[in-house]
Amino acid sequence: MELSDIESDLTSVLYTEEQIHAAIAEVARAVEVDYAGREPLLVGVLKGAVMVMADFARELKLNAQMDWMAVSSYGSGTKSSGVVRILKDLDTDLHGRDVIIVEDIIDSGLTLSWLLENLKSRGAASVEIFALLRKPEAAKVHVDVKYVGFEIPNEFVVGYGLDFAEKYRNLRGVGVLAPHVYS
Ligand code: IMP
Ligand code: MG
Repeated sequence: MELSDIESDLTSVLYTEEQIHAAIAEVARAVEVDYAGREPLLVGVLKGAVMVMADFARELKLNAQMDWMAVSSYGSGTKSSGVVRILKDLDTDLHGRDVIIVEDIIDSGLTLSWLLENLKSRGAASVEIFALLRKPEAAKVHVDVKYVGFEIPNEFVVGYGLDFAEKYRNLRGVGVLAPHVYS
């Protein structure tokens, strides 16, 4: 789905598919340098990170594995609950692994700070984070994020994996959801 296909549901377009791909490529170049000679395990957080993971993993000129976790923190509203529950755990043993968590967005930071501690406690050699988007003004806890695509304003965005009530994930770009859609 193109941004133009749902124009009236958005108040603005933040990033096109091309801009997102360029940002992901830039992060991939940094990761190739930082992880030279190693084989990182990319941990995608379902479902929002599916698009970022697919593009990032293919862009990387490194051997990398992929695994997935599903956690719940949101329900179908637009505010973080702070309550994190594992809905699907990893299949991979993290002992000695270099883990890169791949996320769509950091909003309050509550989900990622919890996930970071959880994965570290499983014996990983290292755990870093790549988040495509970050809302600095929404931060409730500090999270050390090594790789960020874009910093965005504190507004509810959809597309490129990000949903509102499971809708708009298949949008190619990222836009700000119009209030009339959720109010
Ligand atoms: P956090 O715990 O507040 O950092 O956010 C956790 C999760 O909420 C993210 O991984 C997203 O899945 C979701 N989320 C946060 N902000 C947005 C948004 O603007 N649009 C869609 N989903 C969001
Ligand atoms: Mg997410």
